[in-house]
Amino acid sequence: MPPHLGLIGRSATADEPMRCAVLISGSGSGMEALVRAQRNAPLTHQTVLVVSNQDDVEGVRRALDLSVPTEVVPHLTPSGERIPRHDHETSVLELLNEHNIEIVVLAGYMRLLSPRFLSHWDRPVVNIHPSLLPNFPGGHAHRDVLASGTTVTGCSIHLVDEGMDTGALIAQACVPVLPHDDEASLGRRVKVEEHRLYPQVLSWIAEGRVHLTTDGLRLDGQAPNLVC
Ligand code: GRF
Repeated sequence: MPPHLGLIGRSATADEPMRCAVLISGSGSGMEALVRAQRNAPLTHQTVLVVSNQDDVEGVRRALDLSVPTEVVPHLTPSGERIPRHDHETSVLELLNEHNIEIVVLAGYMRLLSPRFLSHWDRPVVNIHPSLLPNFPGGHAHRDVLASGTTVTGCSIHLVDEGMDTGALIAQACVPVLPHDDEASLGRRVKVEEHRLYPQVLSWIAEGRVHLTTDGLRLDGQAPNLVC
C-alpha cells in the first residue's frame, strides 16, 4: 500500500466506506455495537460480512437479526472432528475475497490466525482485547486482572500479527477495577469502552490516519497515546 494512504491504501468516505468483515466466535455484542454505530451515523466504514466459526452462538443470531450477510465456517465437522486449519482458513480467505473485504475486524474470534493466513491476506487485521496490553494477554484477561490486584484495566485495539495479542497497539481505554468486581461485572464495564472505541479506531483507519512506519505505528504522524 502507498504509505501516505494508510493501512487500506485509500481514504474511505461515508459514500465509499471501508468494507469490514467481522470475525466472531461467541456472543457478538461487539459486532452488534459496531453495526449499530455504523447505521446510526454516516461513518467511513461498514460491516459487509460477519463470519463465525461456531454456528449455534448468539453472535450469529444477532448478525442475522441485523440482516448483515453472515457465513458460518465451522472448524469442526458435524461429527466433531477438527477440520485442518489450512482448509478452514482457505474457506475464510475465499469469503473475504468474494466480498471485496478491505479489513478483517476480530471481535471475540477465539482462533489464532496462522502465519499462512496472514501472508495470504495482505490487508490489515485488527483485534480488540479486554485488558491494557501488553498486560494480561490471552483468554482469561479479567480473571488475571482480578488476581493481580491492579486497580485499573481497560481494553486495547491492535494490529494482528503472528503472536497472541502482540501486534502494534493503536488505542486503549481505561476502566477502574472496583473492590467488589467479579469477572462478569468487570467484563460488562470493559465492554462499554470496547463498544465505544472500536468504531472510533476503524474511522481512523478508514480515513488513512493510521500508518505503519519503520519506527512503529503512527496515528496522525505521532506515536499513539496509549497510557490512560
Ligand atoms: C470481548 O471482550 C473482546 O475484547 C474479546 O472477546 C470479547 C467478545 O465479546 N476479544 P462479544 O462476543 O463481542 O460479546
